[in-house]
Amino acid sequence: MAEADTAILSRTPYEMIGGARVVRAIVDRFYDLMEQDDRYADLRALHAPDLAPMRDSLAGFLSAWLGGPRDWFAQRPGACIMSAHGRMAIEATTADQWIDAMTRAIAESEVDFNLGRRMGDALGGMARAMAR
Ligand code: HEM
Repeated sequence: MAEADTAILSRTPYEMIGGARVVRAIVDRFYDLMEQDDRYADLRALHAPDLAPMRDSLAGFLSAWLGGPRDWFAQRPGACIMSAHGRMAIEATTADQWIDAMTRAIAESEVDFNLGRRMGDALGGMARAMAR
């Protein structure tokens, strides 16, 4: 196997995108967009006024989801992100707002184009499955 292939297989997506700093930058941009751009008004309205706890929580979730530190799950035994959102009665149009803001946040980050697109596609699939 080529050396480059071995390097790819031995690194998690979390490491490949640049770890905690880049995850945090994506999450912060995502919530900045949600706060500042009116096209995400419905999505913003679902959230509590203070988004600071969400910035920490989504960054923690994504870190684990990407193969990084799993503190988010360790602190929430049995947590299921799909079930938690199933109770929110999310409209398809609101899921589209989530996907649009996340796609922009990833695209504006330093994540490699192809990896960013795969990450956005996978998150988009989750978001669509959360909508009713
Ligand atoms: C489908 C569109 C989505 C909508 C409308 C939505 C909406 C929400 C809302 C309203 C909350 C509670 C916020 C608050 O208490 O202020 C929340 C929490 C959360 N969401 Fe979403 N969400 C969506 C998709 C996603 C996706 C795809 C993920 C994961 C990749 C995600 C991860 C989280 C996390 C980690 C929390 C915090 C849970 C906690 O700390 O208990 N959400 N979401």
